[in-house]
Amino acid sequence: MEIYEKLAMCYDNIRSRTNFVPKLALVLGSGLGDFAETIRICETIDYSSIEGFPVSTVAGHKGRFVFGYVENVPVVIMQGRVHYYEGYDMADVVLPIRLMYMLGAKTLILTNAAGGIAPSLCPGDLMLITDQISSFVPSPLRGANMEQLGPRFPDMSCIYDKSLGQILEKTAAALDMPLKKGIYLQMGGPNYESPAEVRMCKTLGADAVGMSTACEAVAANHMGMKICGISCISNMASGISEKPLSHEEVQEMADQTAPRFKRFLYDSIVAIGESEGLI
Ligand code: HPA
Repeated sequence: MEIYEKLAMCYDNIRSRTNFVPKLALVLGSGLGDFAETIRICETIDYSSIEGFPVSTVAGHKGRFVFGYVENVPVVIMQGRVHYYEGYDMADVVLPIRLMYMLGAKTLILTNAAGGIAPSLCPGDLMLITDQISSFVPSPLRGANMEQLGPRFPDMSCIYDKSLGQILEKTAAALDMPLKKGIYLQMGGPNYESPAEVRMCKTLGADAVGMSTACEAVAANHMGMKICGISCISNMASGISEKPLSHEEVQEMADQTAPRFKRFLYDSIVAIGESEGLI
């Protein structure tokens, strides 16, 4: 099926079930899933109930859209994202981002857990993403361009919106919470990197490495969405610390940072809503 047809099918399916028009979209990374339960929920739609939506074949993998309000800001939240390492085409990985845009969200907050590379980063830090390297995964824009969504050769000179970044910095300061800044690099995963790969990432200018986000930001920027992104540094990347990486430890640190991250997210959404007039 053509990508646009699939998108239209998913869009029609959701629209037949809710008239909710979100203004802001939020993708929740590791540890943040239950943020969606802290908002005023109007509607939830399981990914598995949307015909054409890329649903994980991995048992126990749940995911859904949550529609609702953070104070007065109408939001759609992805509780669970689609990862490239699960085996999908990149076009399927970014389908939910495109869907949220079509439903009304023109502002996007991306979150993730990432391995720290820069010496200034420590596990537990939050890092505002200022730019990214997506060159190690295919572009989600590969193939026939969807003119309805954006241009064939979109500019990527400012993927992460500066004014949104400033709002996040102000919000962190008001909470007396340190917020680092850096460049995020996306690897394909699902294996963690080797120490030599992490040295390569460092040489290329990356401050943190993960397995998501950058492809979503490319697709969102193609459509002209205003984007901001925050990484939770859940571990030091391979070889930066001597410790072997385990998913359990990465998850544990992400969970430990989550309460602070969720508070920051909530206040950031309110502040972005006010300053962007998303009410
Ligand atoms: N590498 C890649 N992805 C990650 C890491 C890492 O060290 N930590 C959390 N996600």
